[in-house]
Amino acid sequence: MPPARSFDPASAAAPIGVFDSGIGGLSVLRALRAELPHERFVYLADSAHAPYGERGDAPVIARSQAVAGHLRSTHGIKALVVACNTATAAAIHEVRRLHPDLPVVGVEPALKPAASTTRTGNVGVIATRGTLASGKFAQLLASLQGQARFTLQACDGLASAIERAAAGGMAGQRGAQEVAALVEKYLLAMGPLGQQAGAIDTLVLGCTHYVFAEDALRRVAGPGVQLVETGLPVARRAHRLLGETGLLSRDDAAPQTVELLATGAAQQLQAAAARWLGGPLMPAQRVEIPAMAGPASPWP
Ligand code: DGL
Repeated sequence: MPPARSFDPASAAAPIGVFDSGIGGLSVLRALRAELPHERFVYLADSAHAPYGERGDAPVIARSQAVAGHLRSTHGIKALVVACNTATAAAIHEVRRLHPDLPVVGVEPALKPAASTTRTGNVGVIATRGTLASGKFAQLLASLQGQARFTLQACDGLASAIERAAAGGMAGQRGAQEVAALVEKYLLAMGPLGQQAGAIDTLVLGCTHYVFAEDALRRVAGPGVQLVETGLPVARRAHRLLGETGLLSRDDAAPQTVELLATGAAQQLQAAAARWLGGPLMPAQRVEIPAMAGPASPWP
């Protein structure tokens, strides 16, 4: 385990923690990097415990607690971005309860923007089983009742296939074929797609991994379907929150840094980050983050 850092979490110079079950949150990190060019980021892929979306709430809550605790105690993060729809839906309330002094930003499927831009009035939502089954999602859907017709599709296996596709080489090619087959199966099951009356013209990517299946999604959905993801609004929300709490990096000359950590194969995260983030990156490190012992206890 790396030695504890000496950052003061209340200091603007401390890093921002970002986590997901795997590489999906890199789609949010990409937007965060563009929005916040002078911040330090620590990205954690909890890939030894992925996928989150097909496990039920209790394990996702336990992992989110463990990861948030690790990022705080070992990296002294000043804020946390839960770059995972499934973890946000299941666990953000618990993370906030345990860390009341930590600014925490989550992600949720962008139903509202989709409802306001659809022309046919038909919005498709693809997400994990966990996200779609959550009370948080039910509330979001209920708040938009009458504003659009939503067709929901749980995409079991898709996030895992996207992980495999990122590996590169032969395994990556097989993963990409799996992604293409799953995207076709799930999108075709949703009904007509396109701009004709009655068709879904707006597709919400309700899982951060799905951004990395954009080519496959576009191939099946066709050019008339708008894909909606959440990276940019989440990055803006994080920017605002850091500003409001006085935690924005004050050093305009400070170079941005990105530290990559994975509880599973670091090489997979490294390959995905090189492909999707670009720029010089420090090598990804493997970390062990055991579950928190006993009943969850408040920080510290
Ligand atoms: N990237 C995650 C999300 O946004 C979930 C993927 C998984 O099932 O682990 O929901």
